[in-house]
Amino acid sequence: MRLLLILCGLCSRLLVTKCSRKNVLFLVSDDMRPQIGAYEGQYFPSSIHPPMFTPNLDALASKSLLLKRAYVQQALCSPSRTSLLTGRRPDTTHVTDLVHYFRRVGGNFTTIPEYFKMNGYESVGMGKIFHPGYLASDNDDPISWTMPYFHGTRNFESKANSWKAISDDLLKNKPLIDKQIADHALSTLQKLAPAAKSGQKPFFVAVGFHKPHLPFVFPESFLQHYPISEIRLPNNEYAPINMPKAAWFDYTGLRSYHDISALNATGAINSTLPRDVVLDLRRAYYSALSWTDSLVGLVVNELSKLGLENDTIVSFFGDHGWQLGEHSEWCKQTNFELATHAPMMVHIPGLTDKGIVTEQLTEFVDLFPTLAEAAGLDLLPLCPDHSASIGLCREGMSLIPLVQNPNATWKNASFSQYPRVINGTSIMGYTIRTDRYRYTEWVKFIGAPTYKPQWNVSFGVELYDHQKDPDENFNGAFDPSYVQTVKQLSYLLHVGWRIALPSSEKS
Ligand SMILES: *[C@@H]1O[C@H](CO)[C@@H](O)[C@H](O)[C@H]1NC(C)=O
Ligand SMILES: *[C@@H]1O[C@H](CO)[C@@H](O)[C@H](O)[C@H]1NC(C)=O
Ligand SMILES: *[C@@H]1O[C@H](CO)[C@@H](O)[C@H](O)[C@H]1NC(C)=O
Ligand SMILES: *[C@@H]1O[C@H](CO)[C@@H](O)[C@H](O)[C@H]1NC(C)=O
Ligand SMILES: *[C@@H]1O[C@H](CO)[C@@H](O)[C@H](O)[C@H]1NC(C)=O
Ligand SMILES: *[C@@H]1O[C@H](CO)[C@@H](O)[C@H](O)[C@H]1NC(C)=O
Ligand SMILES: *[C@@H]1O[C@H](CO)[C@@H](O)[C@H](O)[C@H]1NC(C)=O
Ligand SMILES: *[C@@H]1O[C@H](CO)[C@@H](O)[C@H](O)[C@H]1NC(C)=O
Repeated sequence: MRLLLILCGLCSRLLVTKCSRKNVLFLVSDDMRPQIGAYEGQYFPSSIHPPMFTPNLDALASKSLLLKRAYVQQALCSPSRTSLLTGRRPDTTHVTDLVHYFRRVGGNFTTIPEYFKMNGYESVGMGKIFHPGYLASDNDDPISWTMPYFHGTRNFESKANSWKAISDDLLKNKPLIDKQIADHALSTLQKLAPAAKSGQKPFFVAVGFHKPHLPFVFPESFLQHYPISEIRLPNNEYAPINMPKAAWFDYTGLRSYHDISALNATGAINSTLPRDVVLDLRRAYYSALSWTDSLVGLVVNELSKLGLENDTIVSFFGDHGWQLGEHSEWCKQTNFELATHAPMMVHIPGLTDKGIVTEQLTEFVDLFPTLAEAAGLDLLPLCPDHSASIGLCREGMSLIPLVQNPNATWKNASFSQYPRVINGTSIMGYTIRTDRYRYTEWVKFIGAPTYKPQWNVSFGVELYDHQKDPDENFNGAFDPSYVQTVKQLSYLLHVGWRIALPSSEKS
């Protein structure tokens, strides 16, 4: 099929009749787990929930390649985004915290927006795309963009409240930050439309929404979708049986809000927040998520108004999952399924209009090669083992073959990781998700300049059998019946992500 590329002037390995350059609308949400109507079913993150109100994301999903089982490479904003935006994993970017910048510690890697810019696109960013701040991203990675970056102002947000519903009247003159970002997206699209339509200059517009990240601040009217009487507690309020301590995160992010710190919550394993607080937080998260959904709709619908809907690729992802009291855990900083599983979808006009759902294991590093191929840009080569000096390469694989056949032979595992410091020692939790299992090893990690795990210095091992235990309540790593499984998964984890690639990708 790759031969078709030549026939079509590098348009795509698929038969695209018209070879004009498509625009890209690149949408990002912060901390959004796949709690979206379109994700409901076997791989939904929580089995107990009120129906979600996400009509806009559902509509986008219905004309997209919907990745039902996409996993982030690390469940924290900057590492996850850096990995996705460079197409490389945290062990290559060397970004596993909110402080380091990949161009200083990993390499001078080409990012997705930068690649489109290099290919003659207008490349415009707004809101949260890279992690903000000079240290983390040199203030939004200036080299990636062709126009000034837009941030917006955080109205009604403070450390006082972990969540707050703001009366819609108050917001008329003082919009929330994500509304400012959506409005800026509309004016940007309007400005760029003429040159895009005439074929003079296509655009890559990246719009990063801040919600449903803490604090959950949203217009009060969104509460109506979630009557408090319909909100349920998680059905597993306890840490997994036999869970190693290293797996745990004491959710300091949530506890830093004054309403939560006033409860004297310690974040200790198996200590739960009061039930009414858990219900309120779940309800506020759902409401903030629906608020983000409405803004996604506003921006996507502008494409139709401008007559650009058939010429613009639309991608959407949430940068990682979130724990909403399951296991009595909160926030994202773990290797559990709820933290690593996140929503991702790609609408490619003319190719995915009828909607394609795949349950193959996919990864966030796959988005860069996918967008490049969908837009007809030069394909990215697979990175060699050491790629610090290579500007452009990929550690994921293009998802385009799944458009043709969602059941195509595919990578058979996805990989994520999470660092901790335990009793003064730096460790890394490496996790592999196969069709049936999640397997994790927490091991000593040697930092700069080698950045290597020391597999023989272990701080804990976990095995969850998703066929029997989809909520990850029982760590079976020491169960005699799983001895062979543990042995095999440990081997695959140590070899790493390349072993999971299908043979077509290895050559
Ligand atoms: C990084 O790479 C870009 C091209 O992608 C180049 O313009 C820039 O000068 C490089 N920066 C450094 C510090 O080498
Ligand atoms: C947490 O509670 C569960 C259920 O009671 C128990 O099995 C588990 O051992 C506890 N974990 C820790 C670390 O105390
Ligand atoms: C939290 O601790 C403070 C100081 O010890 C105490 O005054 C307060 O009553 C405690 N609050 C709760 C909810 O336990
Ligand atoms: C976009 O494509 C759809 C389906 O092919 C078609 O119905 C619609 O009219 C097209 N819109 C424009 C603006 O060309
Ligand atoms: C993919 O496989 C699933 C499960 O085996 C099956 O239900 C579905 O029809 C297949 N889809 C395609 C497009 O072949
Ligand atoms: C840290 O060290 C203390 C004291 O040796 C020990 O009790 C504790 O379990 C250690 N913490 C972890 C997470 O291993
Ligand atoms: C772990 O393995 C390394 C070599 O990979 C070796 O140098 C070291 O001694 C081993 N440590 C332990 C505690 O076995
Ligand atoms: C994935 O496929 C490779 C061969 O390409 C094989 O070595 C590996 O065991 C498979 N992994 C799983 C989890 O089936």
